[in-house]
Amino acid sequence: MSTSNGQPVVWIWRTPSGQAPRRFTVAGAERAQAFHRTLPGYQPTPLVPLRDLAAMLGLAALHVKDESGRFGQQAFKVLGGSFCLHRCMEENWDLREPGAPQPAAGCEPLPGAGVAGAAQPSRTVVTATDGNHGRGLAWSASRLGLGCVVYLPRGSAPERVEAIRALGAQAVVTDWNYDETVRFAGRQAERHGWVLVQDTSWEGYEQIPAWIMQGYTTMGLEIARQLDRPPTHIFLQAGVGAMAGALCGFFADCYAAARPVITIVEPHQASCLFQTARHDDGRLHRVDGELRTIMAGLACGEPCHLGWEQIRAHAGCFVSTPDAVAATGMRVLGNPAGADARIVSGESGAVTTGLVYAIMRDPALGDLRRQLRLDGQARVLCLSTEGDTDREQYRRIVWDGLY
Ligand SMILES: Cc1ncc(COP(=O)(O)O)c(C=O)c1O
Repeated sequence: MSTSNGQPVVWIWRTPSGQAPRRFTVAGAERAQAFHRTLPGYQPTPLVPLRDLAAMLGLAALHVKDESGRFGQQAFKVLGGSFCLHRCMEENWDLREPGAPQPAAGCEPLPGAGVAGAAQPSRTVVTATDGNHGRGLAWSASRLGLGCVVYLPRGSAPERVEAIRALGAQAVVTDWNYDETVRFAGRQAERHGWVLVQDTSWEGYEQIPAWIMQGYTTMGLEIARQLDRPPTHIFLQAGVGAMAGALCGFFADCYAAARPVITIVEPHQASCLFQTARHDDGRLHRVDGELRTIMAGLACGEPCHLGWEQIRAHAGCFVSTPDAVAATGMRVLGNPAGADARIVSGESGAVTTGLVYAIMRDPALGDLRRQLRLDGQARVLCLSTEGDTDREQYRRIVWDGLY
């Protein structure tokens, strides 16, 4: 079994406080979805019932949300960037014309309001990305005729870089890890008067990421409408935790009466939310260094504080996994049991299903299985947040058995 022949899976429990500002509500998700519906090619992505796999694992149900077909961009991330740019326009931050973007009269922006170099022309949006957010932003910016500059961390897969360039954006691979690249993008924004559209928040930079996170809740709303019964367990993968935070808030609002157990899943090498939960001292804890993992989308060392606020309130279990779990998930989803549908899932997308598979199959994870109460009554929801965004690596893992 993949987990026991390599590094172990580790986990901790934390009692969710249940207390967080209601930023990601069903009503907010309806608003986001109403916008997404106006975009060409919008349709809810499939929520795939893996009935045979559920039966094989001894679960009542296992559903996987397949984001590989989202607007042709292979990942959920485009929901965030597109909704954020739309909200900037709605609030009269005129991104097209030279001049400082200004919130509409009477609108109280959050601190920082996300605008760097506000006194300068701001026709260009800029971001740092592992690939998926930058690709989604480039797609959204091109539709609006905005310039787009995207910085990627060192070691980014050439296919991910090219996918961004193909959308007309300037894509530059830096010499730094993800978090250092985010800071560089911020400095570039200030220097050139570009608008920083970053999918993570920090003190003083909240409005833009809050809109991006609201954009992600379209995915939650689709799921809630596609399921005929609430799930008992939800597994959310996390990089900075913006997506997981938005969905924690959304599901808490949506399933207030029957709150599912939410588990946050990260790679060992970038487990900043796990570390933050473990210390539990009211501060965010970062992970430095290379962040070397095959889960490129999750290779982030600094938590998003708006995300953590929701995760802290609503998630009960934090799991740090080796890469092998993601690889197993890719193989399981790509080679389905019985009559189940096939899902093409990339490294960051597959880790949650890989973890559920490992928990149910690996005797070494029996304690976690029992604590989570993953049994014949459990209705499990996992998100496959991306398709094969690096096809060469996908084949190395799924065909050649890497990891
Ligand atoms: C495919 C995929 N899944 C999950 C995530 C995690 O999102 P977040 O960084 O908001 O935690 C990312 C982030 O880029 C991603 O690309």
